[in-house]
Amino acid sequence: MHVMSVKGARIPLVGLGTWDLRGRVCARVVERALRLGYRHVDTAEMYDNEREVGEAVRASGVARNDIFITTKVWPSHFAPHELERAANASLARLQLSEVDLLLLHWPNPQVPLADTLGALCKVRQMGLARHIGVSNFTVALIEEAVRLAPEPLVCNQIEMHPFLDQSKVSAACRAHGLGIIAYSPIAKGGAKNDVVLDRIGKAHRKSAAQVSLRWLVQQDIAVIPRTSRIERLAENGAIFDFELSAAEMAEIGRLGRRNGRLVDYAYSGSPKWD
Ligand SMILES: NC(=O)c1ccc[n+]([C@@H]2O[C@H](COP(=O)([O-])OP(=O)(O)OC[C@H]3O[C@@H](n4cnc5c(N)ncnc54)[C@H](OP(=O)(O)O)[C@@H]3O)[C@@H](O)[C@H]2O)c1
Repeated sequence: MHVMSVKGARIPLVGLGTWDLRGRVCARVVERALRLGYRHVDTAEMYDNEREVGEAVRASGVARNDIFITTKVWPSHFAPHELERAANASLARLQLSEVDLLLLHWPNPQVPLADTLGALCKVRQMGLARHIGVSNFTVALIEEAVRLAPEPLVCNQIEMHPFLDQSKVSAACRAHGLGIIAYSPIAKGGAKNDVVLDRIGKAHRKSAAQVSLRWLVQQDIAVIPRTSRIERLAENGAIFDFELSAAEMAEIGRLGRRNGRLVDYAYSGSPKWD
């Protein structure tokens, strides 16, 4: 098992993303992923699939302690009493006594960060989450969070793939000892159409998607690709039997663009989901 070790957390480098997998499709894909050897599953209260993720974990027959499960609190629940209620509700849907990682899904400028982080730490102390962290935090917010959090934050989950230059935020994560979990790590499928990734992949008998994932894990960044296709589960996990050269890593690094962001969202308090 290839893991990223951060502040006592051992986060498997490959996990399964589950955004917009729902119902029986979600349960089937998560169960198959676990049977195939995935040991890290990423969900969120916003994804409306925690129930199915929990069912799949139980159906897989894999020991609970061998699986790293992440969920996330939606920003409309960042007031302290709301956060504790939301964490308990996620656990009830998952039918778990604790998650391995609980994240703040997006920043919420309407609730003081110190209050939210205090509540997040309390939830950890209560045993509802083994580790805590943030998602979609900018450099300034990372610095504020690390200063304010009474307990260690283990990661920032952010959009990362070859087409987006995230060097500033990743440097801030590293400087503050936060692990990075890359979401949209194959650029929502866009990696497969890239000529550079395709050419490099052919040299290693790998797909462009695998090159995109390998480029990230080779930087000790965890990846959570999502697929609804069973055959792609194995493909997305088979990234530890080849190595990109320093020249290939640098060439892929040069694909980053300023307008390469695929997920652009800012919580404004409007009930996009609540
Ligand atoms: N924290 C946050 O705010 C946040 C935001 C976005 C996402 N996330 C998390 O990150 C996960 C992954 O991100 P994502 O779903 O946005 O994007 P992604 O994993 O980069 O891409 C998923 C897309 O790529 C396709 N795909 C999967 N494997 C492939 C392969 N080997 N070759 C070609 N295409 C492939 C999938 O289609 P098929 O289903 O047809 O295979 C799907 O359309 C999410 O599911 C979610 O858990 C978190």
